[in-house]
Amino acid sequence: MAEQMHVPLLDLKAQYRTIRDEIRTAVDSVLESQFFINGPEVKQLEEAVASYSSCKKAVGVSSGTDALLCSLMALGIGAGDEVITTPYTFFATAGSIWRTGAKPVFADIEADTYNINPSGIEKAITPRTKAIIPVHLYGQCAEMDPILELAAKYQLFVIEDAAQSIGATYKGRKAGAMGTAGCLSFFPSKNLGGLGDGGMILANDEQLAERLAVFRQHGSKPKYYHKFVGGNFRLDTLQAAALLVKLKHLDAWSEKRRQNAKQYNELFKDCAAVTTPVIRPYNVSIYNQYVILVGSRRDELIKFLQANGIGTEIYYPLSMHDQECFSSLGHKSGDFPESEKAARETLALPVYPELSDEQILYVADKVRKFFSGPL
Ligand SMILES: Cc1ncc(COP(=O)(O)O)c(C=O)c1O
Repeated sequence: MAEQMHVPLLDLKAQYRTIRDEIRTAVDSVLESQFFINGPEVKQLEEAVASYSSCKKAVGVSSGTDALLCSLMALGIGAGDEVITTPYTFFATAGSIWRTGAKPVFADIEADTYNINPSGIEKAITPRTKAIIPVHLYGQCAEMDPILELAAKYQLFVIEDAAQSIGATYKGRKAGAMGTAGCLSFFPSKNLGGLGDGGMILANDEQLAERLAVFRQHGSKPKYYHKFVGGNFRLDTLQAAALLVKLKHLDAWSEKRRQNAKQYNELFKDCAAVTTPVIRPYNVSIYNQYVILVGSRRDELIKFLQANGIGTEIYYPLSMHDQECFSSLGHKSGDFPESEKAARETLALPVYPELSDEQILYVADKVRKFFSGPL
């Protein structure tokens, strides 16, 4: 094995090298057209992603964050309402709820999948609850059947935060197509990443899709006549053009991530200090992240891997209920113990599709060496 290798957490240049000509042709065609806003590629991408996600409609938006915000606004959620979600997620989930004036209400996660635990949701429901936002974290869908049952029982909207999970399936159903609305992110580090920010909202209800499209454009229809206060949540034509190119490769990329994860799982099989990701048998993960549970020596491990040229990341070091900006919610540490444990003890390793077998072996070897004591 090579003495020292460089294995970043993500290598977007490696991906770009494989599609450079296609991307440049697509970008060039938008530049020639100068049709930067609402160009034909936006609609083409909406149709392609809707079909890819087995959903009737898709509405392109400016980011995954705006997909969440626009969905909440279009569903009429605001001051006085409560929305139940997981405390263990990227900030945008809870932040978007807060920005509408509604209150984020947290329910703890499952210890093994890190997704919201449906058993905590019902207890969190009050007469003010309007919606549940399950997050399909790291590329694996949350436990949707009980969530959808609760939503039907209490007449709540379900907004899937599928920012990390385009193409993932739960019992054969696609991420983002199971609830009232599904939010996708095209942030460059996602499995389908753009040349900057971008996102999309999936919806099976055509009237809702129509409403989302109106909210995306300052709530105006016809132009300059505003029935609602929306925002500028549009997806750029340039992004749509690049994403149309990348969408053709998405299945192959996600499959390669799954193979990489399988290889890591094998290599960590007899390493008791490492808990590998738990994927439910009826789920297909797209492994946006490969996250291991490593216990209390995480910070030392990060330093050791860094010294060996390996990039890692903590997703996420502080749960939402412990964030300073949400202190008025009155939570304290200990309120959501599984979420806090995950925040303390998990670590993401490189899993991107262009990793070589040698790089995977190298990363696994270093992690194992760290735990087997002094080298
Ligand atoms: C779970 C989750 N929700 C929402 C977002 C927000 O997406 P974006 O960065 O495109 O605004 C992200 C992306 O980082 C995410 O991981």
